[in-house]
Amino acid sequence: MCGIIGYTGINEAVKKVTQGLEILEYRGYDSVGICASVGGKLEIVKTKGRVSELNKLLANEPIQNDLCAIGHTRWATHGAPSYVNSHPHMVGKTCLVHNGIIENYKEIKSRLENEGVNFVSDTDTEVGCGLINYYYEKTNEPYEAILSASDKMRGSYAFAIMFSDEENTIYAIRQGSPLIIAKGQDGFYLASDLTALIPFTKEYYSLCEGEVVKLAGNKAEIYQKGEPQWKRTDMTYEMAKKGGYDHFMLKEMYEQPKAIENSLSSRIKDGLPDFSVDGMDKSFFEEIKAIHIVACGSAMHAGLVASHLIEKLAFVPTRVYIASEYRYTPPLTIDDTLVVVVSQSGETADSLASLRYAKEKGFKTLGIVNAVETTIAKEADYRAYTYAGPEIAVATTKGYATQVSLMSLFAICLAYNKGKIDTNTAKDLTTCLFSHAPKALGEVLERRDEVKEIAKLIYERDDIFYIGRGIDYQMSQEASLKLKEISYIHSQAYAAGELKHGTISLIECGTPVIAIATEEKLFDKIDSNVKEVRARGAYTILICDGEMENAQECADKVFILPKSSYIGNIFSSLAVAQLIAYEVARLRGCDIDKPKNLAKSVTVE
Ligand code: AGP
Ligand code: GLU
Repeated sequence: MCGIIGYTGINEAVKKVTQGLEILEYRGYDSVGICASVGGKLEIVKTKGRVSELNKLLANEPIQNDLCAIGHTRWATHGAPSYVNSHPHMVGKTCLVHNGIIENYKEIKSRLENEGVNFVSDTDTEVGCGLINYYYEKTNEPYEAILSASDKMRGSYAFAIMFSDEENTIYAIRQGSPLIIAKGQDGFYLASDLTALIPFTKEYYSLCEGEVVKLAGNKAEIYQKGEPQWKRTDMTYEMAKKGGYDHFMLKEMYEQPKAIENSLSSRIKDGLPDFSVDGMDKSFFEEIKAIHIVACGSAMHAGLVASHLIEKLAFVPTRVYIASEYRYTPPLTIDDTLVVVVSQSGETADSLASLRYAKEKGFKTLGIVNAVETTIAKEADYRAYTYAGPEIAVATTKGYATQVSLMSLFAICLAYNKGKIDTNTAKDLTTCLFSHAPKALGEVLERRDEVKEIAKLIYERDDIFYIGRGIDYQMSQEASLKLKEISYIHSQAYAAGELKHGTISLIECGTPVIAIATEEKLFDKIDSNVKEVRARGAYTILICDGEMENAQECADKVFILPKSSYIGNIFSSLAVAQLIAYEVARLRGCDIDKPKNLAKSVTVE
């Protein structure tokens, strides 16, 4: 969601900024723009649509500035995607790009309008720009102006700002939205996201809340702090590219076995789960009396699978909350409740707000995060990284798989430390997770052609249902979300036994119903549920464990999972669902890596 990139240095500023914008495309956006100073004036080129359209405009009318530029990909929150609403915005001498939302923009807008300021867009951003300009014209002091304006603004923002009378200089500030500066041999860079900087440099510093930075030529000045503490990333450009796959999503699906191993290996010692690398020792686990898992979308679905395992193995009451609801459904307070916030990006606004809320309430918090050094990772009392590597496709695959695997290990660790399972069982479960999960998942990915055949049978339908029981129901929710978000087919996940309480009325001749059946004790029940919909004309597909008797007769089409275990099946059935979503979306000609209306990192509430 929305991206910022900026450069000050010695060469190719516009080229570097547009290259950075291309990398930021994966976050999801609807318009794009760039600004640089030319002959003492700030020049803006922007457009609704993709970076390729901006590049066409720049090819016709190049901006001649090699020393400094800022760029933005907008994901509209205030005002439709359009030329006027796209960034950069300019008011008086001030030009800026913005990520986030200025919540009190209406009151600021009317105050400034009373002072004679004229606004042309519907955005909150232009109002922020107007406010900074208001103070700038009063003081002629960029730093003072930015701080005074920031003092008056509520909400979340990261700004990259230029002033027309201070050539080739970028100021920036962040509050609630991420912003990173980086040091290259040829100058300084600025971005909302480390990935955008990988082609240029690896040395970065992530700005603190409220910090103001000035970048000019080969100099970075951090006002409050002086010299920043630079860090190095070991992310490579290759890691952020497609690596020969047609889509990032496909590449990331095939990276899952390795990503799971990476996420688990440092947390297994002598065959037992051990989270001491994350600062969580035996007493940490012993003290936990209840768990809240708070997250959005797929991360929340990962929490549902985990909650099932935690309760089954460790007998610790666990509730999963949708992050956007958490603060408005005041959770029951039990002493020693651990709040686990799960987020691939580490920046999801609702998840972050929930984390802050939980901390305010005095809960102990744990962030399960993939993107390092992000706000959720930094603010949680404890953090455990998932080590999936950069996830570029909007639809999460390896992010989700590593969340489930890490939380499964957490469930085993909790059960063991609470004395609910003995050493041998804990070792068996750990081995099972570490070896079966990546193996089973990898084996399904080798059977992509079988899934292609299934996709051909269903890709033209308008509605598809997923059904399951127990953990298969939790898995179905992710399966269904994956399908709808990239193929735009309406899909719903249902507890298999619940369909007949209303929704079965939607089953028509040929409606695809995909049943997942991996739990042996539930085979008969799910078989009956498949029969119920089949009798009403549904086209049934069964994804099941090889032990299910007469599976081939149960449904119109059957995918038998590779021989594995209870835990292995969670991952192999996931891989089938991911491939179904991918192949269906491909047949429908969808923009798989950048589905419409979606953003990778949802930094607004
Ligand atoms: C998954 O495919 C989605 N695009 C989305 O549901 C995502 O999982 C959700 O927005 C949470 O993101 P996070 O993990 O970065 O917090
Ligand atoms: N709220 C701003 C707008 O709608 C910024 C959105 C974004 O973060 O891209 O323009």
